[in-house]
Amino acid sequence: MAIKIKREQQIKKMRLAGEITGRTLNLLKDKIVPGITTFELDKIAESYIMECGALPSFKGYSGYPASICTSINDEVVHGIPSKDRVLKEGDIISIDVGAYIDSFHGDAARTFAVGTVSPEKQRLIAVTEESFFAGIKYAAAGNNLCEISSAIQDTVERNGFSVIRDYVGHGIGRNLHEDPAIPNYRNGRRGPVLKPGMVLAVEPMTAIGTHRVRVLSDGWTAVTKDGLPSAHYENTVLITEGEPELLTLLI
Ligand code: MF3
Ligand code: CO
Repeated sequence: MAIKIKREQQIKKMRLAGEITGRTLNLLKDKIVPGITTFELDKIAESYIMECGALPSFKGYSGYPASICTSINDEVVHGIPSKDRVLKEGDIISIDVGAYIDSFHGDAARTFAVGTVSPEKQRLIAVTEESFFAGIKYAAAGNNLCEISSAIQDTVERNGFSVIRDYVGHGIGRNLHEDPAIPNYRNGRRGPVLKPGMVLAVEPMTAIGTHRVRVLSDGWTAVTKDGLPSAHYENTVLITEGEPELLTLLI
């Protein structure tokens, strides 16, 4: 499928979807304390998204059972919120949120520390975020997609961490997942040339140890094979004639 170029009217709707997504993450950030369950976080996010007049993008997507993904420590992505999963001091939790309104989606993720975490976990969170910003320096019309991927990979690996390969970023719009696939590593292809009006969910997923993952028997939760921690950072990014616009990052 060709990469969709969004028109101004569609971009306006994506800004709204992005804003609701970003606000939901901001709201959740303050709720990350030892003792809260991932189920409670899911309910907080779902209520807020619905109050905004939007729908949670993930609920029902390929049968996904919740409104957000909550992936703790060695869990990479797609962790399912549960009443049995209680956050504890020293955990790191990646929260992935999507909001759907006026027929368009927003998609974003952050990794948060629960209380005080080890210096290594702290560094993983910081490097993952840094790799996103290194990547989107190349999110400019006329560049090839691989320039984003390469900058992400170089930032992560220069810091001694690894890039997850089994999951990638994606185009986003009327559908949560659109073309192009956006690897966070060099895959030997230049990828498409970026054009104004393309909207990309750029989402580095990283690990302290191996990049290899396996999916738990719930059919969703991806964990690192060596059990070492993983982090995730994602925003929905609009390509413009100039600087990229981060639709899910609120200032
Ligand atoms: N940001 C994730 C992704 O793009 C969230 C999807 S969760 C799902 O894959 F449940 F919707 F699959
Ligand atoms: Co995504």
